[in-house]
Amino acid sequence: MSAFDLTRLLPADHFSHALRHDVQRGLTASPKWLPPKWFYDARGSELFEEITRLPEYYPTRAEREILTGHAGDIAALTRARTLVELGSGSSEKTRLLLDALRDLGTLGTYVPVDVSESALEAAGAALTADYPGLAVHAVLADFTRGLGLPPGGGPRLLAFLGGTLGNFLPEERAGFLRMVRAALEPGDALLLGTDLVKDPAVLVAAYDDAAGVTAEFNRNVLNVLDRELDADFDPETFEHVAHWDAEQEWIEMRLRSTRTQTVKIPALDMPVHFEAGEELRTEVSAKFRRERVAAELAAAGMRLSHWWTDGGGRFGLSLAEPA
Ligand code: SAH
Ligand code: AVI
Repeated sequence: MSAFDLTRLLPADHFSHALRHDVQRGLTASPKWLPPKWFYDARGSELFEEITRLPEYYPTRAEREILTGHAGDIAALTRARTLVELGSGSSEKTRLLLDALRDLGTLGTYVPVDVSESALEAAGAALTADYPGLAVHAVLADFTRGLGLPPGGGPRLLAFLGGTLGNFLPEERAGFLRMVRAALEPGDALLLGTDLVKDPAVLVAAYDDAAGVTAEFNRNVLNVLDRELDADFDPETFEHVAHWDAEQEWIEMRLRSTRTQTVKIPALDMPVHFEAGEELRTEVSAKFRRERVAAELAAAGMRLSHWWTDGGGRFGLSLAEPA
């Protein structure tokens, strides 16, 4: 018997309050910014899946290559009974881990945690069809607010794939890793995917693809504000920008206003003025080196026990345990 259920960790009005708070704060700051979690409405989640199939966007393929080669090792090392995945999206690559843990005979429960309800529903339907006997307990949550891990069910493997750790700012990242550490019990492990520093031309192309899908994904946040806050952003008046910051070692996605304009956000009673050429930061995507991953894990009280990369050395997958 397979089973799927979805738990809402936060009160029903949490997301609308949080969006208002973030927009108020980010669009009155200088320079303006928005947190990346607001990309992922149903359309944004679909666009991200399209990004993962683009020729320029190598991280998904590179991480899949590593999982294809090492999911069996990860299963044998962790013997996880529960696989928890933060920011699980479509859970497509996760199938490699589910297969390996099922073959080993330890797996009982999969807990995908995501801010996108449509992604959780679609992944849940597909997984329950393909994994009879697996209990899928989806959690709709904002992982920056807490992890909402159910107690017990150990040993647990906590997966955070795709390089999503890089979407935090450095201080947020440190706090997040401490929160992960606090959630781990003895015998649990963290599986962490991180994109690696490489030729800036390769990085910029991955975030500024020829087909314009990443541009549409980036502009989608303005559609979310229009719909949820009754704002009157015209996404066509904002250009997609992907900038490599060599000092911070991150890609920064921005939306650049092509004209001087004042946007109305009636739900917040807030006019937002943009100068022509003014940029709004919508995401950072930090790129890592092995030493930095190990040091940041250590600072959060975890020990890097295994490190794998794809053949091209583009992406890193770490297995860590409580120190
Ligand atoms: N892990 C998948 C998806 C990565 S896309 C992969 O590797 O392909 C990032 C995912 O994280 C999206 O599904 C998005 O909805 C989710 N996400 C982003 N910010 C989040 C937050 N604050 N809390 C929970 N989920 C979040
Ligand atoms: C989810 N995250 C790891 C993606 C990234 O590469 O930073 C989001 C993304 N942004 C633009 N393209 C993909």
